Amino acid sequence: MNITNKEMTHRRHIVLLPGDGIGPEIMAEAVRVLEVVSQQYSLGLTWESQLLGGAAIEAAGVPLPQATLQAAQAAQAVLLAAVGGPQWDRIERAIRPERGLLALRAALGLFANLRPALLYPQLAEASTLKPEVVAGLDLLIVRELTGGIYFGQPRGIRTLENGEREGFNTDVYRESEIRRIARVAFELAQQRRRQVLSVDKANVLEVTELWKEIMIEVGRDYPDVQLRHMYVDNAAMQLVRAPKQFDVIVTGNLFGDILSDEAAMLTGSIGMLPSASLDAAGKGMYEPCHGSAPDIAGQDKANPLAMILSVAMMLRYTFHEVAAAVAIEQAVGQVLDQGLRTADIASAGQAICGTRAMGAAVVKALQDQRSSS
Ligand code: NAD
Ligand code: IPM
Ligand code: MN
Repeated sequence: MNITNKEMTHRRHIVLLPGDGIGPEIMAEAVRVLEVVSQQYSLGLTWESQLLGGAAIEAAGVPLPQATLQAAQAAQAVLLAAVGGPQWDRIERAIRPERGLLALRAALGLFANLRPALLYPQLAEASTLKPEVVAGLDLLIVRELTGGIYFGQPRGIRTLENGEREGFNTDVYRESEIRRIARVAFELAQQRRRQVLSVDKANVLEVTELWKEIMIEVGRDYPDVQLRHMYVDNAAMQLVRAPKQFDVIVTGNLFGDILSDEAAMLTGSIGMLPSASLDAAGKGMYEPCHGSAPDIAGQDKANPLAMILSVAMMLRYTFHEVAAAVAIEQAVGQVLDQGLRTADIASAGQAICGTRAMGAAVVKALQDQRSSS
């Protein structure tokens, strides 16, 4: 690849994609946090905003404009809020907001999606599960992100001879795709509690029978990591029955999408779950696991913490700025200690704050950390 002058001078450049719904609201808070840590830790970061999703459809007619794709390819990291909304659910399928996001993940080769479900102890009461079931929860879902049924061909809705319509998709994984996500999971487990759970439906689906076989094969290279297997239906059940039995959960695109929303609820709210989507070289796109929450958009109600914690993941995984990442994570802990709660993480009777107040409190906690150190 040619390194242009622009890339040379922008070696720590980030593309921001605020997207739709609550996206711009939570992105504004993330940027405030980014400004503060960038200055405090002299990170030398630069950033620019680009359009993705519904916002891009309105401005440019397509969900992933060329300018956005080029900027994302040239940048070292991408920070995405969320895309989509009911106003774009009925437009031509190929140009819906979600297709823009999927195309961006594919174009950037972001095959490894890391979704850490970590319960802040202050939120044990906020979970819909009993505190003793979730207290101390710390699991990591490693979701394959550029393959499986999300991308498999053929796909579509066709009309049969009798006039009835039929929808169809293809779940497909190559050995090489399974092998590379397996390695990510095993290597991450080596830095954690050395346990990998591979989730499949090998009792029914051939594609996941191969998945399981390759997981076992790759697992032989990591004798220090314990490998277990579970069918996805049981895994969904175990996640709410006894989630602390899990360390790293590795699974395909669709199962990972579903299990990560389920895991989010263990942490109190989907508004708490950040994610990192990485390519083979560690370049990443960082985004909360939740969507654009159209039901609360524009009302200063969204929890910005998953977005803010995605900034921390970006600093850790792409920029290797561990101190700055830890500072953000601790600041989030401090605002929770102070009792700040958006509606999604408030227990009965607790005072509720808005998106902006939550973001401002994180910024203040960061400033206080520095002045007291
Ligand atoms: P959603 O995650 O947007 O919302 C589900 C529920 O969680 C809603 O009640 C919402 O209010 C709540 N919620 C989500 N994020 C929250 C936050 N930060 N703070 C407080 N509450 C929050 O999922 P959905 O309703 O199924 O989808 C809405 C739109 O978002 C759809 O168009 C969907 O395709 C899109 N979506 C986008 C992404 C993404 O961009 N990565 C992810 C998921 C869904
Ligand atoms: C997610 C979302 C996306 C997915 C949609 C919006 C395409 O649900 O990031 O979890 O299914 O991957
Ligand atoms: Mn999802």
